[in-house]
Amino acid sequence: MKGIILAGGTGSRLRPVTLAVCKQLLPVYDKPMVFYPLSVLMLAGIDDILLISTPRDQPLFQHLLGDGSHLGIRIGYAVQDHPGGLPQAFTIGADHMAGERTAMILGDNVFFGEGMGALLTSAMLGRGAVGFCTRVTDPQRYGVVSFGADGKVDKLQEKPVTPLSDWAMTGLYVVDGDAAARGAMLKPSARGEVEMVDLLGSYLAQQRLSMVKIGRGYAWFDAGTHDSLLEASEFVRTVEGRQGLKVACLEEIALRRGFIDLDRFAVLAHDAGDTSYGRYLRAVLAEMREA
Ligand code: G1P
Repeated sequence: MKGIILAGGTGSRLRPVTLAVCKQLLPVYDKPMVFYPLSVLMLAGIDDILLISTPRDQPLFQHLLGDGSHLGIRIGYAVQDHPGGLPQAFTIGADHMAGERTAMILGDNVFFGEGMGALLTSAMLGRGAVGFCTRVTDPQRYGVVSFGADGKVDKLQEKPVTPLSDWAMTGLYVVDGDAAARGAMLKPSARGEVEMVDLLGSYLAQQRLSMVKIGRGYAWFDAGTHDSLLEASEFVRTVEGRQGLKVACLEEIALRRGFIDLDRFAVLAHDAGDTSYGRYLRAVLAEMREA
């Protein structure tokens, strides 16, 4: 199954921390931010992934994730020269998609909740386009979806001054092979970008859009501001500290999803060295060997 991680943008709201490195490589507690969206794709069983970044940051992502083979997946790379909007991901990624249904996730979106992978897997098996939304207290910062009395999607708004609901669109989407062609027909918004809500709106007009409501058992952060970045870090630290289980540990997910076998995992656990991350991997290894 195919996936795209869009890790472009200038990160202007996070300057000066993003002057030299993009926000998707900043840490969310104990690992780089991009691990979190990548973990969501992997948990859904998606193993053929294109990572789109700025030309400046591409070598850094390649250094971090390589070709994905250590995780038993494929990671390819492409660049977005200018931030022209989220739907550009499907034009840049057209060859990668090859007309197939594809999940797209933003490189700064952190999701937490058991069953997140399964939600995405079932969206991959559906038709048309699928968005994922969740309740927030600050819908003005996001794309907003409102529902009619029949529970169906009624309207989509991008960063509305007057939101019609408190359901925010997260940066996770599933589209079909039409997405690039649809995106090419859209006009840029007032902020000069083609908007994802407009692309989804074209599916909505043909009753080919569905929306998954991510319920109260999940947490979602977009680490786009200093405060939300710190909040996400604190959240991960709290959960990991309490449970002793790591969130978005790619090596563990690769093992548990069957992308790699125990021998391969043992090498990764060894290479991670004398760090808390390495000790965690070796604890997982011992547990799995006993099982
Ligand atoms: C983008 C989308 C918006 C969505 C958000 C989620 O916003 O345009 O609809 O709610 O991602 O992270 P941006 O990050 O471009 O401000």
